[in-house]
Amino acid sequence: MPGTCVIGLQWGDEAKGKLVDLLTEEHDLVVRYQGGANAGHTVVSGGQTWKLSLIPSGILRDNVTCVVTGGVVLDPASVIREIDGLEKRGVTIGRKLLLSDRAHVVFPWHVSEDRFLDGSLSGGEAIGTTGRGIGPCYRDKVGRSLAIRLGDFYRPDFRDKLAHVVNVKNSLFAGWKVGGVTIEPLDAGRIHAEYAAYGERLRPHVADTTAFLLDEIEAGKRFLFEGAQGSLLDIDHGTFPFVTSSNSSGVGVSSGSGVPGRWIDRVIGVVKAYSTRVGGGPLPTEQINAVGEHLRERGHEYGTVTNRPRRCGWFDAVAARYTARLSGVDCLAVMLLDVLSGLDEVKICSAYEIDGQRISHFPSHIDDLKQAVPVYETLPGWRDDLTGVRGYDELPSQARAYLDRIGELLGRRVSIVSVGPDRAQTILRDRNVVGSPPKPWPPHPHPSAANV
Ligand code: GDP
Ligand code: IMO
Ligand code: MG
Repeated sequence: MPGTCVIGLQWGDEAKGKLVDLLTEEHDLVVRYQGGANAGHTVVSGGQTWKLSLIPSGILRDNVTCVVTGGVVLDPASVIREIDGLEKRGVTIGRKLLLSDRAHVVFPWHVSEDRFLDGSLSGGEAIGTTGRGIGPCYRDKVGRSLAIRLGDFYRPDFRDKLAHVVNVKNSLFAGWKVGGVTIEPLDAGRIHAEYAAYGERLRPHVADTTAFLLDEIEAGKRFLFEGAQGSLLDIDHGTFPFVTSSNSSGVGVSSGSGVPGRWIDRVIGVVKAYSTRVGGGPLPTEQINAVGEHLRERGHEYGTVTNRPRRCGWFDAVAARYTARLSGVDCLAVMLLDVLSGLDEVKICSAYEIDGQRISHFPSHIDDLKQAVPVYETLPGWRDDLTGVRGYDELPSQARAYLDRIGELLGRRVSIVSVGPDRAQTILRDRNVVGSPPKPWPPHPHPSAANV
C-alpha cells in the first residue's frame, strides 16, 4: 500500500514542509491536494533555506514527481515565480512538476475580492486572510458559472470565457462600496494577454493528474500527500468562520487528489510543541505575556507568506486530540521542541472549562470556543539546548516526559521529534514509521460531560 499523508493538526505552520522534504526520500511522488499560495512551507538544508508555496516540498529531491492536483487553487504568476526562483538556485524542474488541468485559477479579481471582503463578518471582525484570493476562487469554483480552470486556457473559447467573467465581475463590483473603498473595473483584454502568456509558460507541466495518479498507484508507486494549512483551519471541521476555504484536515486528501482513501496507509499528524495561529479567531491557550514572547522570538514565529507575527500559546491537547482523530493519524511528529528550552515550566491544556463545566471535547461552535478557559497540566521545563540532539533517549528527561504526555493525551505515539529547522535536526524515534490498521482511540484521560 503506497500512501503517506503529512497533515497539520493545529492552525498551520506546524513545519509540514520540513517533514515532507525529509520523507520524500522514501517516496516517488509528492502531492499537494488543497489550498493554494496561502501556504508557506519551509525547507532548510545544508545552510540553505527554501520557501515553497504552491510547489510541493519534495521538489528539492531528485527522482521524484511533484503533483499539484485539481483540489488546489492555482495562481499562475505565483507558480512561475517559484519555478524561476528554484531554477535560479540550481533546482531542476522539467517534468518533475505536474499541474492539474482541473485546478481552478486565481485571477486578479479574486485577490481584490479577498482584500475587499475580509473584515466584513458580522460585527466587523476580520478572518485575517493571507490576501491571496483563496476564498473567492473556491467560492467561484463551487458557484461554477464564473469559474475558470487551468485546462480552459488551452481551449479556443478561453478569450470569450474570460471576457464573460470579467463582464459579470465588473457589473458586480460596480455596486461594491464600503467606507469609500471600491474595486477598479477590470480590463479583459489586458488580463487575457497576461494569463494566456502564463498558460503558454506552464503548458509543459499541465496534465490530467487524476488519471496520472491512478495509473501510478497501479504501477506500485509510493505517494506522499502534503497537507497545507492545518486541520483546525478546515472549512467543514475547523474553527469556522476563522478557517481557510478547503478541507485542510485529513478528510480532504481523497477529494482534492482523486486518490481513493483506501490507498492511504499511513497518516502522520504534525504538531508544533506549542500552539500558533496567524490571523483572527480563537486561540484558547494564547499567551500574551513573556511566555508568548519567548515562543515568538525563539521560534521565529512570523508568517512565511505575510510576515505577520504569529500568535503563540501553550500546547492545546483538546484541539489536537480532536484533529488527530479527525485526520485518523497513525503517529505524531512533534516539531520545534527546541523552542521550549529555557522555560522553568511547560504547560499542556488537557481540558476546557465553559461556564464552570469541564469538557474534554472540542466545541463545534466558535462562540463556545471563545468562552473556553484552558485547564492546564504543568510539567517541569528544561534549560538544555536540544538542537544537537539526535536520539530520543538523549533528550532531557523533562522533555521526554512532556512528549510522552502529549502522546498519551492525543492517543498516539510520538514517532518523530524535530529540534531545529535543518533536515538533519530530526529524531526518528521509530525509524520505520509504519501505519497500522485503524484502531480506536483510547478513552480521554479526562472524561467529562457528553459531547453536544
Ligand atoms: P509549514 O507551513 O507547516 O511548512 O511550516 P512553516 O515553514 O510555515 O513554519 C515552520 C518554521 O519552523 C519554518 O521557519 C521552519 O524552518 C522552522 N522549523 C521547522 N522545524 C523546526 C524545529 O524543529 N525547530 C525550529 N526552531 N524551527 C523549525
Ligand atoms: P501553511 O500551509 C497558517 C490562515 C490565514 C487566515 C486563514 C484564512 O503554511 O501551514 P486564507 O488566505 O486561507 O483565506 O486565510 O487561514 N492561513 C494559514 N495560517 N499557515 C497556513 O498555511 C495558512 N494558510 C492560511 O492566516 O487566518
Ligand atoms: Mg507555513
